[in-house]
Amino acid sequence: MASHKDDIYQKVWSVQHPGISTEESQAFYSTWAPEYDKDLSTPGLYKGPSQVAEALAGVLRDRKDARILDAAAGTGLVGEELRKLEFSNIDALDANKEMLDIAKTKNVYRNLIQDFLGPNRLQVADDTYDALCCAGSFSDGHLKCDCLEEMIRIVKPGGMICLIVKEAFLLEYGKLEPRMCELQDKGLWERVSRSVAEGYVENGNGIIFIYKVL
Ligand SMILES: C[S@@+](CC[C@H](N)C(=O)[O-])C[C@H]1O[C@@H](n2cnc3c(N)ncnc32)[C@H](O)[C@@H]1O
Repeated sequence: MASHKDDIYQKVWSVQHPGISTEESQAFYSTWAPEYDKDLSTPGLYKGPSQVAEALAGVLRDRKDARILDAAAGTGLVGEELRKLEFSNIDALDANKEMLDIAKTKNVYRNLIQDFLGPNRLQVADDTYDALCCAGSFSDGHLKCDCLEEMIRIVKPGGMICLIVKEAFLLEYGKLEPRMCELQDKGLWERVSRSVAEGYVENGNGIIFIYKVL
Protein backbone atom coordinates (compact mmCIF):
# COMPACT_ATOMS: atom_id res chain seq x y z
CA MET A 1 0.00 0.00 0.00
CA ALA A 2 1.30 3.49 -0.91
CA SER A 3 2.40 5.58 2.10
CA HIS A 4 1.46 9.23 2.62
CA LYS A 5 4.96 10.20 1.48
CA ASP A 6 4.65 8.14 -1.72
CA ASP A 7 1.43 10.02 -2.37
CA ILE A 8 3.21 13.39 -1.97
CA TYR A 9 6.07 12.33 -4.27
CA GLN A 10 3.46 11.28 -6.82
CA LYS A 11 1.99 14.80 -6.65
CA VAL A 12 5.43 16.39 -7.01
CA TRP A 13 6.05 14.19 -10.06
CA SER A 14 2.65 15.17 -11.44
CA VAL A 15 3.61 18.87 -11.57
CA GLN A 16 7.22 18.60 -12.74
CA HIS A 17 8.11 15.41 -14.57
CA PRO A 18 10.35 15.63 -17.64
CA GLY A 19 8.47 16.78 -20.73
CA ILE A 20 5.46 18.18 -18.85
CA SER A 21 3.92 21.30 -20.39
CA THR A 22 3.20 24.46 -18.44
CA GLU A 23 -0.52 23.90 -19.00
CA GLU A 24 -0.43 20.35 -17.57
CA SER A 25 1.57 21.50 -14.57
CA GLN A 26 -0.74 24.44 -13.91
CA ALA A 27 -3.84 22.24 -14.16
CA PHE A 28 -2.42 19.95 -11.48
CA TYR A 29 -1.56 22.86 -9.17
CA SER A 30 -5.18 24.01 -9.37
CA THR A 31 -6.32 20.73 -7.82
CA TRP A 32 -3.34 20.37 -5.45
CA ALA A 33 -3.57 23.90 -3.98
CA PRO A 34 -5.81 23.07 -0.96
CA GLU A 35 -3.47 20.20 0.10
CA TYR A 36 -0.12 21.77 -0.87
CA ASP A 37 0.82 23.26 2.52
CA LYS A 38 -0.13 20.16 4.46
CA ASP A 39 1.83 17.95 2.06
CA LEU A 40 4.97 20.09 1.99
CA SER A 41 5.03 20.58 5.76
CA THR A 42 5.86 16.88 6.13
CA PRO A 43 9.05 17.03 8.28
CA GLY A 44 12.28 17.12 6.27
CA LEU A 45 10.56 17.13 2.87
CA TYR A 46 11.12 20.72 1.74
CA LYS A 47 13.15 23.51 3.36
CA GLY A 48 13.20 25.92 0.39
CA PRO A 49 10.99 28.64 1.88
CA SER A 50 12.99 29.08 5.08
CA GLN A 51 16.32 28.71 3.26
CA VAL A 52 15.57 31.38 0.65
CA ALA A 53 14.08 33.74 3.26
CA GLU A 54 17.13 33.42 5.52
CA ALA A 55 19.51 33.92 2.58
CA LEU A 56 17.69 37.06 1.51
CA ALA A 57 17.57 38.35 5.07
CA GLY A 58 21.34 37.89 5.22
CA VAL A 59 21.86 40.44 2.45
CA LEU A 60 19.00 42.81 3.29
CA ARG A 61 20.02 42.83 6.98
CA ASP A 62 18.01 45.45 8.88
CA ARG A 63 16.13 46.80 5.85
CA LYS A 64 12.87 45.31 7.12
CA ASP A 65 10.83 47.72 4.97
CA ALA A 66 12.46 46.52 1.73
CA ARG A 67 9.88 45.99 -1.00
CA ILE A 68 10.18 42.31 -1.90
CA LEU A 69 8.59 40.24 -4.68
CA ASP A 70 8.07 36.57 -3.89
CA ALA A 71 8.20 35.22 -7.45
CA ALA A 72 6.24 32.00 -8.13
CA ALA A 73 4.93 32.42 -4.59
CA GLY A 74 2.45 29.55 -4.73
CA THR A 75 0.51 29.31 -1.48
CA GLY A 76 2.77 31.80 0.29
CA LEU A 77 5.20 29.63 2.24
CA VAL A 78 8.11 31.99 1.44
CA GLY A 79 6.06 35.03 2.42
CA GLU A 80 5.31 33.44 5.77
CA GLU A 81 9.02 32.83 6.36
CA LEU A 82 9.88 36.41 5.39
CA ARG A 83 7.22 37.68 7.78
CA LYS A 84 8.73 35.61 10.61
CA LEU A 85 11.98 37.46 9.87
CA GLU A 86 10.06 40.76 10.23
CA PHE A 87 9.84 41.76 6.57
CA SER A 88 6.47 43.33 5.92
CA ASN A 89 6.46 44.89 2.44
CA ILE A 90 6.03 41.76 0.33
CA ASP A 91 4.14 41.10 -2.90
CA ALA A 92 3.37 37.69 -4.40
CA LEU A 93 3.39 36.73 -8.07
CA ASP A 94 2.28 33.37 -9.38
CA ALA A 95 0.66 31.96 -12.51
CA ASN A 96 -1.88 29.91 -10.61
CA LYS A 97 -5.09 31.43 -9.24
CA GLU A 98 -5.90 28.61 -6.82
CA MET A 99 -2.40 28.72 -5.29
CA LEU A 100 -2.61 32.51 -4.96
CA ASP A 101 -6.07 32.23 -3.37
CA ILE A 102 -4.45 30.25 -0.54
CA ALA A 103 -1.56 32.74 -0.36
CA LYS A 104 -4.04 35.57 0.10
CA THR A 105 -5.49 33.96 3.23
CA LYS A 106 -2.07 34.17 4.93
CA ASN A 107 -2.27 37.98 5.10
CA VAL A 108 1.45 38.37 4.49
CA TYR A 109 1.32 39.98 1.04
CA ARG A 110 0.34 43.55 0.12
CA ASN A 111 -0.36 42.75 -3.55
CA LEU A 112 -0.99 39.46 -5.30
CA ILE A 113 -0.26 39.32 -9.03
CA GLN A 114 -1.45 36.46 -11.20
CA ASP A 115 0.88 36.22 -14.19
CA PHE A 116 3.50 34.08 -15.88
CA LEU A 117 7.20 34.69 -15.46
CA GLY A 118 8.89 34.23 -18.81
CA PRO A 119 8.95 35.14 -21.58
CA ASN A 120 6.18 37.77 -21.46
CA ARG A 121 6.53 41.27 -20.06
CA LEU A 122 4.92 41.61 -16.62
CA GLN A 123 2.57 44.47 -15.78
CA VAL A 124 5.14 45.73 -13.28
CA ALA A 125 7.10 48.95 -13.76
CA ASP A 126 10.88 48.95 -14.12
CA ASP A 127 12.85 49.13 -10.85
CA THR A 128 9.85 48.45 -8.59
CA TYR A 129 11.39 46.10 -6.01
CA ASP A 130 14.32 46.25 -3.61
CA ALA A 131 14.55 42.47 -3.78
CA LEU A 132 13.07 39.41 -5.46
CA CYS A 133 13.20 35.87 -4.21
CA CYS A 134 12.06 32.57 -5.62
CA ALA A 135 11.94 29.04 -4.18
CA GLY A 136 11.02 25.70 -5.65
CA SER A 137 10.08 26.98 -9.05
CA PHE A 138 12.84 26.36 -11.58
CA SER A 139 11.92 22.94 -12.94
CA ASP A 140 10.16 21.11 -15.78
CA GLY A 141 6.86 22.82 -16.63
CA HIS A 142 7.90 25.79 -14.46
CA LEU A 143 10.40 28.67 -14.71
CA LYS A 144 13.20 28.64 -17.22
CA CYS A 145 16.00 30.97 -18.35
CA ASP A 146 13.55 33.18 -20.22
CA CYS A 147 12.30 34.86 -17.02
CA LEU A 148 15.64 36.09 -15.68
CA GLU A 149 15.80 39.35 -17.63
CA GLU A 150 12.27 40.22 -16.56
CA MET A 151 13.21 39.58 -12.92
CA ILE A 152 16.16 41.93 -13.33
CA ARG A 153 14.03 44.60 -15.03
CA ILE A 154 11.61 44.93 -12.11
CA VAL A 155 14.31 45.08 -9.40
CA LYS A 156 16.01 48.40 -8.68
CA PRO A 157 19.69 48.88 -9.44
CA GLY A 158 21.50 47.77 -6.31
CA GLY A 159 18.59 45.47 -5.43
CA MET A 160 18.98 41.77 -4.69
CA ILE A 161 17.72 38.64 -6.44
CA CYS A 162 17.82 35.42 -4.44
CA LEU A 163 16.92 32.14 -6.17
CA ILE A 164 17.03 28.62 -4.76
CA VAL A 165 17.16 25.79 -7.27
CA LYS A 166 17.42 22.04 -6.77
CA GLU A 167 21.01 21.03 -7.56
CA ALA A 168 19.89 18.02 -9.62
CA PHE A 169 17.72 20.22 -11.82
CA LEU A 170 20.64 22.57 -12.51
CA LEU A 171 22.59 19.58 -13.82
CA GLU A 172 19.70 18.14 -15.86
CA TYR A 173 18.59 21.43 -17.41
CA GLY A 174 22.11 22.72 -17.93
CA LYS A 175 21.14 26.12 -19.38
CA LEU A 176 20.36 28.11 -16.25
CA GLU A 177 23.83 28.82 -14.90
CA PRO A 178 25.35 29.65 -18.32
CA ARG A 179 22.47 32.10 -18.88
CA MET A 180 23.08 33.66 -15.46
CA CYS A 181 26.73 34.16 -16.45
CA GLU A 182 25.76 35.66 -19.83
CA LEU A 183 23.55 38.20 -18.08
CA GLN A 184 26.48 39.10 -15.84
CA ASP A 185 28.70 39.49 -18.92
CA LYS A 186 26.04 41.81 -20.37
CA GLY A 187 26.35 43.95 -17.23
CA LEU A 188 22.79 43.37 -16.00
CA TRP A 189 23.64 41.86 -12.63
CA GLU A 190 26.60 40.55 -10.64
CA ARG A 191 26.88 37.43 -8.54
CA VAL A 192 27.12 37.99 -4.79
CA SER A 193 27.21 34.31 -3.86
CA ARG A 194 26.45 30.75 -4.89
CA SER A 195 26.05 28.43 -1.93
CA VAL A 196 24.82 24.95 -1.17
CA ALA A 197 21.56 24.64 0.77
CA GLU A 198 21.79 21.30 2.54
CA GLY A 199 18.62 19.27 2.69
CA TYR A 200 16.71 21.65 0.46
CA VAL A 201 14.48 18.74 -0.38
CA GLU A 202 14.55 15.34 1.27
CA ASN A 203 16.30 13.79 -1.72
CA GLY A 204 18.79 16.52 -2.55
CA ASN A 205 20.53 19.80 -1.86
CA GLY A 206 19.68 23.14 -3.36
CA ILE A 207 21.87 25.92 -4.69
CA ILE A 208 21.16 29.44 -3.50
CA PHE A 209 22.14 32.14 -5.97
CA ILE A 210 22.28 35.75 -4.84
CA TYR A 211 22.73 38.46 -7.47
CA LYS A 212 22.94 42.23 -7.21
CA VAL A 213 21.14 44.09 -10.00
CA LEU A 214 23.34 46.67 -11.77
C1 LIG B 1 6.54 24.12 -6.17
S1 LIG B 1 5.54 25.58 -6.19
C2 LIG B 1 6.57 26.66 -5.18
C3 LIG B 1 5.74 27.67 -4.48
C4 LIG B 1 6.49 28.43 -3.38
N1 LIG B 1 7.54 29.26 -3.93
C5 LIG B 1 7.04 27.46 -2.37
O1 LIG B 1 8.28 27.42 -2.21
O2 LIG B 1 6.26 26.75 -1.74
C6 LIG B 1 5.83 26.25 -7.82
C7 LIG B 1 4.94 27.44 -8.15
O3 LIG B 1 5.43 28.03 -9.35
C8 LIG B 1 4.34 28.50 -10.08
N2 LIG B 1 4.75 28.66 -11.47
C9 LIG B 1 5.18 27.70 -12.30
N3 LIG B 1 5.54 28.23 -13.48
C10 LIG B 1 5.32 29.56 -13.38
C11 LIG B 1 5.54 30.66 -14.26
N4 LIG B 1 6.05 30.49 -15.48
N5 LIG B 1 5.24 31.89 -13.82
C12 LIG B 1 4.73 32.08 -12.57
N6 LIG B 1 4.51 31.08 -11.70
C13 LIG B 1 4.82 29.83 -12.10
C14 LIG B 1 3.28 27.45 -9.87
O4 LIG B 1 2.00 27.95 -10.17
C15 LIG B 1 3.48 27.10 -8.40
O5 LIG B 1 2.66 27.87 -7.58
